Amino acid sequence: MAIIASNFKTNHTRKSTASFVNEVNEFLKTNEISSDVYIFPTSTSLDSFDTVSTFTIGAQNAYATAKGSFTGEIGTTQLDEFSIKTILIGHSERRHVLGESQEEIAKKFAFYSELGYKIIYCIGEPLEVKEQGLEKTLEYVYEQFEGIDTNYENLVLAYEPVWAIGTGVTATNDDITNVHSAIKSKIEKPLLYGGSVKVANVREICQLNGVDGALIGTASWIVEDFKQIIENTKDV
Ligand code: PGA
Repeated sequence: MAIIASNFKTNHTRKSTASFVNEVNEFLKTNEISSDVYIFPTSTSLDSFDTVSTFTIGAQNAYATAKGSFTGEIGTTQLDEFSIKTILIGHSERRHVLGESQEEIAKKFAFYSELGYKIIYCIGEPLEVKEQGLEKTLEYVYEQFEGIDTNYENLVLAYEPVWAIGTGVTATNDDITNVHSAIKSKIEKPLLYGGSVKVANVREICQLNGVDGALIGTASWIVEDFKQIIENTKDV
């Protein structure tokens, strides 16, 4: 069964998130789809969404704290209010745009794994590394596991090449299977692909060897498209 996750990034409001979430819930119920679906809204749009029973809401980010003085951040006190127990860690935008170091990421991972959170842990190489070939790419990706307990039971991995994120350039099937099979040979965890996944290619990608689902940004923000993505992968 494919895992399908939507990363809203800095998109949607509280109001539009609520309507998106309800629509996806109705869709899954009506069509009796049992895919493993996740939605990661902005932190301002998190809520308990009491009526939603068919999928999981997660946080895109939180600080490694229950509460305290960390301006602009949220901690488990804010997540507990909505019973959120799922978090994205290591997303490329947090690494490369917001400047989170591997050390900070590992600290966050340790904190949230200690609490039993489901962690979707993202890895992926920038273009200049990809251009140096598969060996260098894998070296780079493995460094992103430094300080990470890859045996953690509630762990899902997402391979997202930085050059494919939000660019419309999807990795080729060969790129994906090469990296996925290498990671899978070392770490036996579900492994999603992310990077310009869309309605038209999600099924093919999810059917590739070593791909257990997709983490989707841009193409998941329109609810009709997200429903179609779920529809296209429901039996994969
Ligand atoms: P994209 O983003 O689908 O817009 O490429 C993927 C991600 O960053 O998770």
